[in-house]
Amino acid sequence: MDVTYGCLRPLLFQFDAERAHQMVLTGASMVGRQPMLRAMARSLYAPSPDPALEIELWGSRFSHPFGVAAGLDKDGVAIDAWAALGFGFMELGTVTPGQGQPGNPRPRLERMPHHRAVVNKLGFPNKGAEALANRIASRISTIPIGTNIGKAKSTPMDRAADDYCSVLGTVFDVSDYIVVNVSSPNTAGLRDLQSIQMLRPLLSRIQQENSALAAQKNTRPRPILVKIAPDLADEDVDAVADLAVELGLDGLVATNTTIRLDLVDPLPSVQGGLSGAPLGPRSLDLTRRLYRRLGSKIPIIGVGGIMSAEDAWQRIRAGATLLQSYTGLIYEGPGLIRSVVNGLSHRLRVEGFSSVREAVGSGVGD
Ligand SMILES: Cc1cc2nc3c(=O)[nH]c(=O)nc-3n(C[C@H](O)[C@H](O)[C@H](O)COP(=O)(O)O)c2cc1C
Repeated sequence: MDVTYGCLRPLLFQFDAERAHQMVLTGASMVGRQPMLRAMARSLYAPSPDPALEIELWGSRFSHPFGVAAGLDKDGVAIDAWAALGFGFMELGTVTPGQGQPGNPRPRLERMPHHRAVVNKLGFPNKGAEALANRIASRISTIPIGTNIGKAKSTPMDRAADDYCSVLGTVFDVSDYIVVNVSSPNTAGLRDLQSIQMLRPLLSRIQQENSALAAQKNTRPRPILVKIAPDLADEDVDAVADLAVELGLDGLVATNTTIRLDLVDPLPSVQGGLSGAPLGPRSLDLTRRLYRRLGSKIPIIGVGGIMSAEDAWQRIRAGATLLQSYTGLIYEGPGLIRSVVNGLSHRLRVEGFSSVREAVGSGVGD
């Protein structure tokens, strides 16, 4: 951990977790707006460029594979700060239609420092897709932006597709890729959408809407990815992978938070999704399983318990092309960016790979 965050973290951890998060977002949004502060953030934290880490994917150029996970900046209030800190890309959202929604009652976020974990049952509090689209449109940075889209709590399950399509329409122009979130444990019924019987029609509808929007705007359809839960049974993971191939999806995001709260002791008082170090092994396994099934046909974004450069490297070897972190940033601070990116550069050289692409999946079958 860098010295600055080493001093800041004990102060932040004195506050309730959600309050601390709001303070970080407020600070980051200030950094994003001020050229001087952006320059400072860049010089303190941004990793040095390494051509071996560059990735061309979905028509976008990623300067390196490490990005911001969904949920950290749901409304895109600090886009230019994340870019200045040196992330390779960011995923914003989850956003829902219209003016968004307040989410579940508080308290709904709890730190478990002994486990380097967090439990949340936020339930997609967000200001809505249009507010996010406006923020993305007014950013100055150019790193790729994914938008993670969801269903409102008040929308009945049989109208879920309407919500996803509505949000897609709103963020289409400003998003480099779209993630269909069917794996948050904090919206009743949402994860049922991962069953093939529900997922096939949902994704087909979203793909139709995507093609219609592309034709109407005379542009290319946006890459569509699906984010899955670490709690799926292995055969359900395989079924989702096969469906992704069948429908020609552009990627999978593995994984969201887990409902396996027994991975931490004592049990948290917030009953929601667990993230951070205890999630790492399952997310890693699931990435490996998906890669075994998909090979390089469909890229995987690996997320869940990436707390160090070593975790990031193992995730690449397991088959992830891109990586994201949320909880790692809570515990390690923005120094994690440089440590992951420089660590990946180092490992590539030591292991004799000429590019990160070459290393993707290299550990599968070991
Ligand atoms: C407080 C919090 C809020 C989150 N909100 C979202 C969300 O809105 N949409 C989503 O797809 N994932 C969300 N996630 C899940 C993360 O994107 C990520 O998949 C998960 O936390 C595992 O990564 P980590 O161990 O690096 O945190 C959230 C995670 C946390 C901790």
